[in-house]
Amino acid sequence: MEILDAKKIREDFPIYKNTSLMDGHPLAYLDNAATTFKPYKVIDAIRYYYENETSNAHRGDYRLSANVDYKYELARKKVAKFINAKDIEVCFTSGTSMSLNMIAYGLADLLNEGDEILITEAEHASNVLPWFNIAKRHNFVIKYVPLTKDGRLTVENFKKSITKKTKVVSLAHVTNVLGYTVDVKTLAKIAHENGAYFVCDGAQSVPHIKTDVKDLDIDFLAFSGHKMLGPTGIGVLYGKYELLTKINPLLSGGGMTSRFDTCGDITYSMVPYKFEAGTQNIAGAIGLGEACEYLQEIGLDKIYQHEMNLRNYAISKLEKLDNVILYNKDADHGIITFNIKNINSQDIATYMSSKGVCVRSGQHCAKILLDFLQTESTLRCSFYLYNTYEDVDQLVECCINGGDFLDAFFL
Ligand SMILES: Cc1ncc(COP(=O)(O)O)c(C=O)c1O
Repeated sequence: MEILDAKKIREDFPIYKNTSLMDGHPLAYLDNAATTFKPYKVIDAIRYYYENETSNAHRGDYRLSANVDYKYELARKKVAKFINAKDIEVCFTSGTSMSLNMIAYGLADLLNEGDEILITEAEHASNVLPWFNIAKRHNFVIKYVPLTKDGRLTVENFKKSITKKTKVVSLAHVTNVLGYTVDVKTLAKIAHENGAYFVCDGAQSVPHIKTDVKDLDIDFLAFSGHKMLGPTGIGVLYGKYELLTKINPLLSGGGMTSRFDTCGDITYSMVPYKFEAGTQNIAGAIGLGEACEYLQEIGLDKIYQHEMNLRNYAISKLEKLDNVILYNKDADHGIITFNIKNINSQDIATYMSSKGVCVRSGQHCAKILLDFLQTESTLRCSFYLYNTYEDVDQLVECCINGGDFLDAFFL
């Protein structure tokens, strides 16, 4: 019995009607860790805003604008409900990268020279570079929790790495190359016991598993709308209310101050508006609110189970192929990272594209991890609720035939 009827779900996604074929083959989109398709519910809500309701939010006193204020704040409520946060703890940003930069910038003022920031070699560039930037500017020290030989982060290694000098821990809940889940709840507890803030990169977790910020007791969470059926250019910075009141905003501009004077004295607006400088991506926020509702209606538990079923099916087929190197056979998420022996990953991805299959190739913005895995690049296949077993079959077929084809081609 199927957990989800992915074929029925596809009816909610116009791309499967409009772009059903790629190079004459059925479209098998398997790059959901990069970005996801959008359902009518999201597209229609955005379109409705532009066609019927366009005006700025929190700027006008006329009815059109008041209506948009309401819609924008309703979107915030929907997102807050999705992660079990208070509305005022949800700040709209342009995405995970922006949120993490804002968190790093804000926390920098609360740290002292020599303080340590703890990350791992499996982090995405967006959860490394903002920390590098503040560390360089303020003389903080970046430290890495050692990973197991498979690339996992264990509680044991974490305990060995954290010290009284650690002031920030920043980790992906689910890593984007290997698809491993980090025990965020336990690690956040240990971080707090040692007096450190816990920042969670939820880019690959929030779209796929229920995230309860209160239960996890994390201080900050960052995620992107486009990886969870929402539009591009919208994301979220969640922070505990008292911490959001403490940190300074990275961006300044209209709407984020309650007053300022010629001497440069500034009084910020209350949280979350303090972090929303300038005209916001109103349509994006409305779309993200719809995406949250859509995912909740289907059920994240079902979505996760469906992805794991596809993953297990794919692994059972791929591990039988002599030419396939699998890097994360036992991952906890619908992400498979692999290579075809002796063939460049980009060449394989291009070949797969000619057969309708979309996978990611390259370094996946996790350059340090690929050094760890001792490979220049990999292929990554990542599932979501609309993927089918036929998509997997198409992928596997490419792995069987691609090797021979490309071998011959490059001889
Ligand atoms: C784990 C992780 N963190 C951060 C990001 C950055 O997300 P965005 O490009 O939406 O800002 C990604 C994107 O792939 C990711 O996988």
